[in-house]
Amino acid sequence: SEKYPNMKRDTRFSQLNSRHVQYFKDLLGGGSAVIDGVSVDASADLEPFNSDWMRKYKGHTKLVIKPASTEEISQALKYCNDNMLAVVPQGGNTGLVGGSVPVYDEIVLSTSRINTIRSFDPVAGTLVVDAGCILESVDQFLADKGYIFPLDLGAKGSCQIGGNVATNAGGLRLLRYGSLHGNVLGLEVVLPDGTIMDDLTTLRKNNTGYDLKQLFIGGEGTLGIITGVSILCPQRSQAVNVAFFALESFEKVQHAYREAKQQLSEILSAFELMDGRSQDLVHNVTNKKRPLEGDHPFYCLIETSGSNAEHDKEKLHQFLEHVMSEEIVSDGTLADNASQMQSLWSWREGITECLGHWGGVYKYDVSIPLSDLYELVEDTRARLSSAGLVGDTNEHPVVAVVGYGHMGDSNLHLNVATRRFDKAVEEKLEPFVYEWIAKRNGSISAEHGLGLQKKPYIGYSRSETMIRLMKQIKELFDPRGIMNPYKYI
Ligand code: FAD
Ligand code: MLT
Ligand code: ZN
Repeated sequence: SEKYPNMKRDTRFSQLNSRHVQYFKDLLGGGSAVIDGVSVDASADLEPFNSDWMRKYKGHTKLVIKPASTEEISQALKYCNDNMLAVVPQGGNTGLVGGSVPVYDEIVLSTSRINTIRSFDPVAGTLVVDAGCILESVDQFLADKGYIFPLDLGAKGSCQIGGNVATNAGGLRLLRYGSLHGNVLGLEVVLPDGTIMDDLTTLRKNNTGYDLKQLFIGGEGTLGIITGVSILCPQRSQAVNVAFFALESFEKVQHAYREAKQQLSEILSAFELMDGRSQDLVHNVTNKKRPLEGDHPFYCLIETSGSNAEHDKEKLHQFLEHVMSEEIVSDGTLADNASQMQSLWSWREGITECLGHWGGVYKYDVSIPLSDLYELVEDTRARLSSAGLVGDTNEHPVVAVVGYGHMGDSNLHLNVATRRFDKAVEEKLEPFVYEWIAKRNGSISAEHGLGLQKKPYIGYSRSETMIRLMKQIKELFDPRGIMNPYKYI
């Protein structure tokens, strides 16, 4: 687990006592609403709420509360604010920057019991849901109505809409449908003092004053708790096709991306990048038959979504023929049915899980100008190799340095799979990676957020003026500092 040598528990926060616990039991009805860990410090029930998805960060909460309505959240938060009890909002706990678990003994406020679909307008495509709804269930609900959720990601089976909005998750459909900053139409948020900010409009246009909801999109639970989300959902495409192909250099990947934009234009819905090593890892862990023969340094996955299956398939065939005859792509395959599509997608979506197979993963989610995108992986690999840290045996902490990501969004995921979390590896990586990115005016946090991991490094991507303004906003919304402390800024 991570240690926090430069950070101490903030003594302004109260220590949890039995009076506090009794208040929550009375408010929330005890039983399923409250897990009482006050008398048993190492309660097994609290472990999943204290550990993050990567098992890199570990908190020490003694209390998890699960309110069942916005009103209960409002009362619970007001009580926390009045009593100086620090709070961590937690959705599906799939966040990748240590933001969703406590650092010390903050109370975890889980949104999993507010999970109702409030309304759907089948003409406008506007959906209003509770924050605790699971992404995959919402997408399934929309599928039955001919619509699609404008966000998709590998953690869809457990992440929640509130968590997605709080992290401003990007995912696999951003290329086509844009970011949550554009698609979210309204939010209901409980502020730290218990005030309910009802901005749950379904209007597409609303220029009446500052657009305050934007602060909570990507606010990572530092300003308030999102309880309801109104979002614009696109029509579900009748025809979806997936192609998977191999390429011999990153120059060719860029070339293929340009060709895909030109030739597939309005039907292109995803263009994802996977390097050869990432695919070796997936193969190593799953032992599944590879989609293409041989070893290639790069692979891309293209998805098209349109309204005419024949027409789209024809376009994709022509595209593949063109890129192969021009030797931009060395090999490729097209999925013939839904299960083949899913199987091709698993070589991209499955990377995250497979990376954790050996022990720990160091993850860097960054935006870099496209031409430089893969150079970061090569430079990092060279740096760790020359330090003797990469190898096949147990004395080498690093198993592999891999790159993959959302090519269409210039968003690279640089990942270092290790046999254990290791200080020597971390010291080679940080601040090296952040300095590398700052030199190219990139972003150290493209879509996963800052959380605990990147809090010390925000200055590599934001100016002092912007950080000062952010601190003032935090002070305005959360003057007592109880919301997700020790993180973000
Ligand atoms: P949590 O992990 O519970 O919380 C995340 C943050 O939001 C925390 O800071 C938490 O305090 C805060 N929070 C949660 N709920 C609320 C709320 N209701 N109000 C206020 N604050 C809240 N991310 C991408 O952007 N793109 C991807 O493609 C992608 N793929 C992923 C694939 C896998 C396999 C995994 C494990 C993660 C992936 N992620 C991806 C990370 C991503 O951030 C999360 O999956 C998701 O958006 C977080 O939702 P959650 O409900 O799990 O939130
Ligand atoms: C992805 O694109 O797969 C996710 O952002 C998760 C990850 O970075 O591993
Ligand atoms: Zn991603």
